[in-house]
Amino acid sequence: MGKRRRDVEEEPDEDAWESKNERPEDVYEHPGNYWTPEVIANLLKAKGQARIQHKLAARALNVIGEQFPGFYEQEDECPLALDLGCGLGFTSDILVEAGFTAVGVDVLVDMLSVSGARDQVIANAGRARYHRTLASATALPFRGATFVLAASISAVQWLSAPEELQALSTELARACMPGACVAIQQYPRSSSQMVEFGKIVQKEGFRGGILVDNPKNPRKRKVFLLARKDG
Ligand SMILES: C[S@@+](CC[C@H](N)C(=O)[O-])C[C@H]1O[C@@H](n2cnc3c(N)ncnc32)[C@H](O)[C@@H]1O
Repeated sequence: MGKRRRDVEEEPDEDAWESKNERPEDVYEHPGNYWTPEVIANLLKAKGQARIQHKLAARALNVIGEQFPGFYEQEDECPLALDLGCGLGFTSDILVEAGFTAVGVDVLVDMLSVSGARDQVIANAGRARYHRTLASATALPFRGATFVLAASISAVQWLSAPEELQALSTELARACMPGACVAIQQYPRSSSQMVEFGKIVQKEGFRGGILVDNPKNPRKRKVFLLARKDG
């Protein structure tokens, strides 16, 4: 698999790209206008989507381990992981499997309620390993320094205005414990937007970089921001 790591300070180069296809995030102002009850019901039935989300979440957790050796060796009785834009909860399935107690946050009440029909959500919620909260990733209803990991898979592209990305980064810095890791996979509009987001996160006290899987293939390209909070 082709991949490229870059530091967020690097200038855009000949590998720069810009998405040519119109994404739902470009068309709809609010995720609720795209994720209608019908679309959410179809998502629940789409086994391929579950596979993709599980695969991306597992990849994000693996690369955190590679980038920050020792992160998973910390002893914590009840490590809490945040899942931003948790949708139907596929990412949280993987967080729970990896030993975390997952706290999913989503801005759509329909998404959260439909997720409650999934067997894995029922099982994990039943043993208090998965909790769901209606909120925006830009205004988290949690106490500071709560989470040891913040993950987000295929959601942050809904936040593209600089002030939204700033609010997300400020909230990440507030909600994460010192030494916490952040793993965000998303579909930025362009390589410059990807780098800008990295710089904003870095200014909030995180160190890390951006990993791009399949950088030359727009259909398969996957962008991960991997960072660790100072402290
Ligand atoms: C493709 S789904 C993510 C799927 C999820 N990773 C999973 O494993 O099921 C994108 C989700 O991001 C959510 N979202 C978009 N903007 C958000 C925001 N500002 N705060 C929280 N969630 C948001 C949407 O409501 C939607 O449920």
